[in-house]
Amino acid sequence: MRSFQPCSPGTLAPGLNAGLEAGLEAGLPRGPELLDLASNDYLGLSGHPALVAAAQSAAASQGVGAGASRLVSGSRPVHGALEEALAHWLGRQRVLLFPSGFQANLAAVSALADRHSLVLADRLIHHSLLVGVRASGAQFKRFRHNDLGHLELLLAAARQANRQQRLLVISESLFSMEGTSPDVAGLETLCQRHGAALLLDEAHAVGVLGPGGRGLGHGLEGLALISGTFGKAFGSGGAFLAGDALVGDWLLQSAGAFRYTTALAPPLAAAALAGLEQIQAEPNTGLALLDRARRWRDGLEAAGWPRPAGTGPILPLVIGDDGTTLERQQQLEAAGLLTAAIRPPTVPQGTARLRLVLRHDLPAGSLKRLIHALGPPPQQPCS
Ligand SMILES: Cc1ncc(COP(=O)(O)O)c(C=O)c1O
Repeated sequence: MRSFQPCSPGTLAPGLNAGLEAGLEAGLPRGPELLDLASNDYLGLSGHPALVAAAQSAAASQGVGAGASRLVSGSRPVHGALEEALAHWLGRQRVLLFPSGFQANLAAVSALADRHSLVLADRLIHHSLLVGVRASGAQFKRFRHNDLGHLELLLAAARQANRQQRLLVISESLFSMEGTSPDVAGLETLCQRHGAALLLDEAHAVGVLGPGGRGLGHGLEGLALISGTFGKAFGSGGAFLAGDALVGDWLLQSAGAFRYTTALAPPLAAAALAGLEQIQAEPNTGLALLDRARRWRDGLEAAGWPRPAGTGPILPLVIGDDGTTLERQQQLEAAGLLTAAIRPPTVPQGTARLRLVLRHDLPAGSLKRLIHALGPPPQQPCS
């Protein structure tokens, strides 16, 4: 996989975006060069020449836009090719593409729950999943973050109250603001024991975590649906749901978020397919990123910061106070480092944080630069 110098919004690798380059030439303000520690382009694929070429070629041969939904006239050869390649790679019978992960999650929840169901979800699931639960009309309870003991209590109580009720459990394999992962095999076992369907959002995991980047749900037969996005490690845009043939057919027949929306733009589908080929060609890149993540956690801890939770490429540096978090973010920006200050309501009150995201293609010395720019930790950081 060829590496790229990570770019900030104001700095593009030469030739990657001729239009914007031309605009900058014409006098649009050019931002200072920033090292990207904020985006989810984990593998640095969004500017990879193979993806750019695939998108250009698909635009020329299959159109920039699909012009209609998949079931009307929007299907293109690249959609089928991507669905087939993903199904084979993930070891699932059926994959369906969506224009975004937000829509895929709406469709997934609606397919697996209705107003007679009970949904049990991790307290910190993504907003799109919450919107899906609301739209389904299901009864809704949350379990404590990654707490399988708490989930088991809720499942047992639900089964005791009603042996027939449809139950759906929802979690994510890498939580985007926490950096943490659940015990996915444990979740599967619990769900099977209590007759509950399991929906796993792998948006931040596919391409990076699990065997060859296939996600933490890989090989677990008890998962009803996996959702993934191409907007992160795959370096493109759009998303997918993967499951067995039955749930795939049900989605095709009933999911409004699939049927009544313009098909994923062919250039994005082609770039996602090229991204998948890069991931398959270099299946250990995710492991190398995890190794870097461990070194960054060690380094931050050695510098006196609370060790960021989790083990993956998202490192939440919890500061606590909103104002201090924003100040640190501005301080980093002044030193040429782009990070995101995440504050309530995105995270609970008193847990404002800098969300650091590692990329495969960060230049050597980035950690040292970060630690130097961060300065000493605040007096009483939250852990
Ligand atoms: C956990 C999770 N699920 C789903 C999504 C939505 O994906 P997309 O950006 O493709 O709509 C996101 C994106 O922010 C996410 O973090």
